[in-house]
Amino acid sequence: MIINITETGSLKTILEKMGYLFPCGGKGLCGRCKITASSLSPTSLDLRFLSDHEISDGIRLACDKEILEPIEIDCDLKKKPKDIKPEHPATYVIFGENETEIGLTDDGIILENVILPSPPPKMIDLKAQFNLEAIEMFEKYKVAKAETILILGTPERVKAITNIEIPFNYGDMYYAKDMNLPGEDVYIPPIPTPETGSHDLVELLDIPDNSLVISGSVFMYKGDDILCITSDKDCLSGYGKIAFKATLQYFIQETKPENIFTFENIQESIEAGAKLIERRARYLAAELLFSNKRKAELNRLAKRTVTMAIADDDLWQDIFSKIEMEG
Ligand code: FES
Repeated sequence: MIINITETGSLKTILEKMGYLFPCGGKGLCGRCKITASSLSPTSLDLRFLSDHEISDGIRLACDKEILEPIEIDCDLKKKPKDIKPEHPATYVIFGENETEIGLTDDGIILENVILPSPPPKMIDLKAQFNLEAIEMFEKYKVAKAETILILGTPERVKAITNIEIPFNYGDMYYAKDMNLPGEDVYIPPIPTPETGSHDLVELLDIPDNSLVISGSVFMYKGDDILCITSDKDCLSGYGKIAFKATLQYFIQETKPENIFTFENIQESIEAGAKLIERRARYLAAELLFSNKRKAELNRLAKRTVTMAIADDDLWQDIFSKIEMEG
């Protein structure tokens, strides 16, 4: 739809006032607020998410643009309906170690989400928490049930809510009624290894190759293979901290990553030169709910993933002895 923008200022604010929805809330995380406006100069956000072809066709992302003079844009962003009734309702749940996020989406746009403390991975608690929150959102949006429910998390939590045996096949779909969940289908993204949850794997989707991503006690190197190094949860204190730091140092020396990212402000990661980035799991979950291309990308990532645990076996002894020699 062609819109004449006569106001100046933030394009995001102007479009929001007109009732348009920004898929990630306009935080520059999803790359999906595409408009056509060739007179706006491409920004670093455009270069990050758009192809050269799209940029030369005048496609831009709306959420970081400033309007200095009246312009005409072509905007197909979704509008928030007054009487909201999602056409393709879907829900996601992301089970983190400390927090659980549950959201309702429509065609990949997050309509609402809640973040709650994570209960221990017991079936009864997880299922009750999810069902309660999801049904409350359904009632608010007059939805009978979700078309698809996506579940992201560690194997133990996914097993607890679905009661299906691990390992799953990559990207399997299941019937929600078999699991007593309020939807038609359940999509379980690949859980590449027993030690790595699908919530960590999705974070790698748009991360460039030759990057190291530090996520709490797990760090993941994305090269030809994706190497997930896991360690004990209390690796950030006591003796475990020494092993974690040494391993991190070794992998940085060996792989020479172009980028190091972290999601948490953990001193060891920052000292190792990591750049703090926001977790994108919720936006990627919303995309996975409607994009088969994204599902295929995730399956490919899972097939490249191998895990190693920081342990006291020969391999790690060898690594530590090298670090001592070099140090
Ligand atoms: S809304 Fe613009 S990048 Fe997500």
